[in-house]
Amino acid sequence: MSKVLTASTVITNRPFDGRYFYLELEAPEIARQYEPGQFVMVRCGPPGSLDPLLPRPLTPAAAEPNAGRLGLLYAPAGRGRGWLAERRPGDRLTVWGPLGRGYRVGAGPAVLAGTGRHLAALFPLARRLAARGSPFRLIGLTGLPDSDATPLPEDLEVEAREPGEVDWDSARQIFLAGSPELYRLAARMLPRDVAGRTQVLVEAPMACGVGACFGCTVWTQAGPARACVEGPVFGLADLRL
Ligand SMILES: Cc1cc2nc3c(=O)[nH]c(=O)nc-3n(C[C@H](O)[C@H](O)[C@H](O)COP(=O)(O)OP(=O)(O)OC[C@H]3O[C@@H](n4cnc5c(N)ncnc54)[C@H](O)[C@@H]3O)c2cc1C
Ligand code: FES
Repeated sequence: MSKVLTASTVITNRPFDGRYFYLELEAPEIARQYEPGQFVMVRCGPPGSLDPLLPRPLTPAAAEPNAGRLGLLYAPAGRGRGWLAERRPGDRLTVWGPLGRGYRVGAGPAVLAGTGRHLAALFPLARRLAARGSPFRLIGLTGLPDSDATPLPEDLEVEAREPGEVDWDSARQIFLAGSPELYRLAARMLPRDVAGRTQVLVEAPMACGVGACFGCTVWTQAGPARACVEGPVFGLADLRL
């Protein structure tokens, strides 16, 4: 798969569920190549400007290959995402991706669980499983520090559960998206065999997004790994948390 650098056009950019913004972009090649769990880099300044210098990583909440569109759900906080929230339909943005390794999907019933806005990273995977007729549950985890304001899409059913209420053992595959606190909790709470079939999406701070700067290094049982290339999805049991 080749990475695509593109000047994308904003289709819509609107408030979503009170706390977030939802940005729809025309980005046909990225939408066509996208695999759930991968991310894109978005330059949060006018085309041609290098201020701010570093692009911002965002995980698509939707990728529609037929329509050629990407959907990005973001918190309008910080300099970069604050700038994004002011974009209007027709504006042009520099975007590249898809980047990194996404979720590896196997067979059997799946649990997809996340906290707050992180849950949106699981929407493309949920849609893919639904299209295949594979059984899954999509769970917005409650009772954790960043689990307020779970975004609710129109086309997917989201359950609200505390981590202790979820029957993790019965899932053949578990996909998590959240903060390091969630992953540490999962590592403590899940039996070893269940942790072994759990994948997590790590949001390490990123500068280049393409493996050159090592700014996103995380520690795995095998040594250091770049979240932007070897991740951002890792096996829970492979991480040193
Ligand atoms: C793979 C990946 C996917 C992401 N997907 C999304 C997404 O879909 N929606 C979304 O809203 N955000 C997402 N993020 C987080 C977002 O990219 C960062 O928070 C980024 O710093 C935002 O830039 P900013 O200019 O808006 O805020 P900044 O002013 O740069 O930062 C705001 C706050 O976030 C902290 N921060 C900096 N880098 C990161 C980071 N990588 N992760 C978490 N916190 C950070 C800073 O310390 C600061 O407190 C993702 C991050 C990664 C690595
Ligand atoms: S962000 Fe530069 S190596 Fe990962």
